[in-house]
Parts: sequence; C-alpha cells; structure tokens
Amino acid sequence: MRYLITGGAGFIGSHLADYLVGKGHEVHIVDDLSTGSLENIAAHVRNKRVDFTQANILDREVMEPLVANCDQVFHLAAVVGVKLILEKPVHTIETNVEGTQVILKLAREHNKKVLVASTSEVYGKAMENLHHSDQLSEDGDWTLGSTGKSRWAYACSKAMDEFLALAYYEEYGLPVIVARFFNTVGPRQTGRYGMVIPNFVESATSNTPIRVFGDGNQSRCFTAVADAVRACVDLMSCDEAVGEVFNIGSVEEITINDLAKRVKELARSTSEIVHVPYEEAYGKGFEDMRRRTPDISKLQRFIGYNPTYTTDDIIGEILHYRHSRVGDATRVERAAVS
Ligand SMILES: NC(=O)c1ccc[n+]([C@@H]2O[C@H](COP(=O)([O-])OP(=O)(O)OC[C@H]3O[C@@H](n4cnc5c(N)ncnc54)[C@H](O)[C@@H]3O)[C@@H](O)[C@H]2O)c1
Repeated sequence: MRYLITGGAGFIGSHLADYLVGKGHEVHIVDDLSTGSLENIAAHVRNKRVDFTQANILDREVMEPLVANCDQVFHLAAVVGVKLILEKPVHTIETNVEGTQVILKLAREHNKKVLVASTSEVYGKAMENLHHSDQLSEDGDWTLGSTGKSRWAYACSKAMDEFLALAYYEEYGLPVIVARFFNTVGPRQTGRYGMVIPNFVESATSNTPIRVFGDGNQSRCFTAVADAVRACVDLMSCDEAVGEVFNIGSVEEITINDLAKRVKELARSTSEIVHVPYEEAYGKGFEDMRRRTPDISKLQRFIGYNPTYTTDDIIGEILHYRHSRVGDATRVERAAVS
C-alpha cells in the first residue's frame, strides 16, 4: 500500500510513518515543518519507499497529485497545542478547518479512504456533567466554553473537521474514519507548545522546578504513541470502522500532581514541584477541564484494542529518549572541541 501522511514530520505522524514503513508499505509525507521537523523523519532519508514534500496542505495544487497517487490518507496535519492556539487563533482555525476541507475534497475527487485526526478536546467540559465513574463516549454530548475564550477554538475547529468528514461520508459515500486522540505522548514530542510530559521530563532531567499549572488535581489519561499508531492502522483496515468516530486512549487516570511526582521519582531528580496559577501560564480567564477519561469500549469492539503501555512505561520511554539525545548532543560537542 502507498499511504499519504499529512503532518507526517510531526510527533504522531512520524511514528505512524515508522510503523507503516516497518510493515513494508510506501509512505509519502507532506508537512510544512511548522511544528514538525526533518529530524523526526531522519531515519527515512535514504529509504526509497519514503517520499517527503515540504508544503502547506492548504496548497491544493501541490496536494492534488499527492492524494491522487496514494491508496489511503492519514490526515494529521493541524495546528496543535494549547499554547499555540492561544497565540495564533486565526491561523489555528483556518489551518484546521480549511486544511481538512482541501484533503476531503481531493479524497472525494480521487476516491481515497481518509482517517481524520481529531481530539478529546471536542468533549470540552462534558465530564463535569457526568458521574465520577462515567467515561467520555463517542456519541455523548459535548460542552464547550464561550467563544470569547480562544482555547475552545481548537476544539471547535476539530469538531468542524469531524462534522465535515462525516458529511462527506453521508452525502458522497467517501470512506472516512475519525480518530479522537486522548493526550498522546512518547519520544519526539516537543514541550515547546505546552505539552505536559515533555515539559516535566525536561525540568526533571535538568533538576529545575517542575511547573504544575492550577492546583494539579486535574487528571488525564495518557496514551502511548505506539498504541495510538497501531489503533489508527488497524482502524484503516477495518471495513466496519468507515463512517465512525473512535476514542483512541487509555483508561489509566492520573492527576497532574501525581504525574509530576512520578516523573521526578523515575528521573531520580531533585527538582522542586511548584504550582503556577493558570492565569500566569495562559493568561486571564483560561479554562481547563478537571478530568478527561475515554470510554474505549468501541475501539475494543471494532479492532480488539487494548493499551499496552502504563503511564510509568511511557514516562520511562521518554526519559530514555531524553537521555539518549543529551548523550548525542554531548558527543557532538566533544567531537567539535577535539
Ligand atoms: N498529541 C496529542 O496528544 C494529540 C491529541 C489530540 C489530537 N491530536 C491530533 O493529532 C494530529 C497530530 O498531532 P501531533 O501531536 O503529532 O502534533 P504535531 O504538531 O507534532 O503534528 C502536526 C504536524 O502538522 C504539520 N502541519 C501543521 N500545519 C500544517 C500545514 N498547514 N501544512 C502541512 N503541515 C502542517 C506540523 O508541522 C506538524 O508536523 C493533529 O491533528 C492533532 O490535532 C494530537
């Protein structure tokens, strides 16, 4: 098979490329390198089964032959991360909505199956209305904050992508699958745009303060990127998944306070854990959700999915990755000096 991965030089996209190439497939990566990097896909530079095009997915002329010449599309390119969204709301909304529009239009013209990446953010504050034992299920209601708070623009742009993808399926019969990722983490994820684990790991390994936003009692469920990638690929080959929305996540819930403690312990760090008000981190009026726990029974039913990584496994893997990078950088510095 030949797959097109939009956003393939990004965090999830590059792991997806590794996985597909490892299975013997051909991959064409398109990415504008705005948050992704060539370093993420460096392993494939000389691989004849991997092509790379640096382009903006909004550029229809560039995208047309790429969509035409593949068998299936994984559409992951988007503006991602709370920090970026607050800084560039127009760019976020336009890229996420128009980008998906371009991909779906081209997929329809060339009749290609598309997996559209969405996010658990679309549930917004829905968990506040549920009992403690309840989980977020795909057909549950969503509760977003006011349009005056641009944080919710990301969720809304991704919800619009979902509506559009499902509309293409309903109206034109285009085979689409929507994947709602829940806090997906692993090696190569950058902390630059506000992702929590890379930031904690960086602070812990440099023995600088680990900054917990808010009171730290908010909780999340972290998904290993390897589990998420496997789920996406399995969904693409599952005929019954077409026209459906899936949570891709893990049900191991951890508060951000406990996460900070685990990272500190596993890194054997002397970092102090400090609390930073949301307002100081993200500006006035910032809203967050207290909990976000996925119901993954639908994913289990359709593809027999079960997460294989615990939160400790994930932290351990990221620490290992971080140490190997620091080791590489030190070796390069030493070589430069000698
Ligand atoms: N990582 C998570 O926890 C998470 C959670 C929910 C949803 N998602 C979704 O998964 C997808 C991948 O996210 P990620 O975590 O790998 O983030 P990422 O920022 O690493 O990946 C996004 C990639 O898209 C590229 N890109 C952005 N705008 C583009 C454009 N206009 N044209 C071409 N390329 C463009 C970026 O350079 C980057 O490589 C996104 O759609 C995101 O919304 C991720």
